Amino acid sequence: MAGVTDSLFRGYCKEFGADVVVTEFVSAEGIFRRNERTLEYLEFHQAERPVGIQLFGADPEHLGEAARMAIDWKQPDFIDINFGCPVNKVVSKNGGSSLLRDCPLLEAVAKGVVKGAGSVPVTAKIRIGWDEKTVNATTTARILEQSGIQAIAVHGRTKSQGYSGSADWQVIAEVARSVSVPVIGNGDLSTGADVVRRKNESGVAGAMIGRAAMCAPWVFREMRAALLDQESPPFPLEAKWNHIVRHCRDAVARSGSELHVMHSMRSRLMAYSRGMDRAKWLRSRFSHIESLMGLEDVAQEHLAMPRESLEAADESVGAEA
Ligand SMILES: Cc1cc2nc3c(=O)[nH]c(=O)nc-3n(C[C@H](O)[C@H](O)[C@H](O)COP(=O)(O)O)c2cc1C
Repeated sequence: MAGVTDSLFRGYCKEFGADVVVTEFVSAEGIFRRNERTLEYLEFHQAERPVGIQLFGADPEHLGEAARMAIDWKQPDFIDINFGCPVNKVVSKNGGSSLLRDCPLLEAVAKGVVKGAGSVPVTAKIRIGWDEKTVNATTTARILEQSGIQAIAVHGRTKSQGYSGSADWQVIAEVARSVSVPVIGNGDLSTGADVVRRKNESGVAGAMIGRAAMCAPWVFREMRAALLDQESPPFPLEAKWNHIVRHCRDAVARSGSELHVMHSMRSRLMAYSRGMDRAKWLRSRFSHIESLMGLEDVAQEHLAMPRESLEAADESVGAEA
C-alpha cells in the first residue's frame, strides 16, 4: 500500500505472521529513467522474503525493462503488476485500473513484464472491472493467465467504487473457478474469521490484507491461527503500544530527524488509533505529536486509564472511528 507498506512496516507484518509481502507500487517509468526517489521504493530486507516488487505503468516495453532492471539490482522473489490503482494521477496516464478497460494493452503489459522478468515469477493485482457495467474480472484473469502470469490477486471492487461499498466476493469466487493459477482474494478482510469464511466460500488460494493490516498489523497473528484452526490469544494493549512506539523509534533511527519523522508518522498513528480503544481521544493527541517522548506520554496516559472506561469509551467512539 502506497505510503504505508515501506520496508519497516513489511518487516513487522512478517513478524506478526504475514506469509508474503509486496512493496508499495513503484513507477516503471521512474525505474526506467533511474529516478533516484523511485529507486528507494525498491529497497527491502532479506527478512521480508518472499517479497514482490509491484510495478505500475502503461508502456509494455518500459515495464518489461523496468522489471529486468529491478530484478537485476534487487533480486525480488517475484514481480507484481498493478492493474487496480484507481487514483487519477495513475489512471490518466493509462496505468493501474485503466488497463482493465483496455484488454489488448493489459495483455501487452503482462507479456512485456513476463518477458523482462525471465525466470522470476510475475503476478498481477486486478479489480473486478472498471465500473458496475463492465465487470470483466474473469476475462482479464484468463488473459493474464495466458500471458504467463503465475498468480492473480483480485480486489472485489470496481475502479469506480474506489473504496466505497463492499468487495464482491461472488466475482472473486468466479475468477477462482475460471483460471488454474492461484487466485488471492482481497477486500474487507479484518479478522481471522473473515479470512477463513471467505476462503472456504470462494475457493481462493490465499487472502490479501490491506487496511486491516495498516490499522492493526498484529491482525496477522489471529488470521494465521484461524487458518490453522487454532485459537489466538488476544493481543494486549501493552503489546500494541510496544509495537507503535517501536515503529516510531525505528522510523526515527532510520531517518535521523525526529521532528520530521514524527510529523510524517501522524497519519500512521491515526491508522493505529482505529485498531484501539478510545480512538477519538487518541486521534486528538496524535494530531499534535512531535517527539518520541510525547508519544510515550500518550501511551502511559492511555495505559493508565481504567480498562472499563476504555471499553465504555470504545463503544461511544465506535460509530465515529
Ligand atoms: C492507502 C492505501 C494505499 C494503497 N496502495 C496500493 C498499492 O500501492 N498497490 C496495490 O496493489 N494496492 C494498493 N492499495 C489497495 C489495497 O492493496 C487493497 O486492495 C484495498 O485496500 C482493499 O483491501 P482491504 O479491504 O483489505 O483494505 C492501497 C490501499 C490503501 C488504503
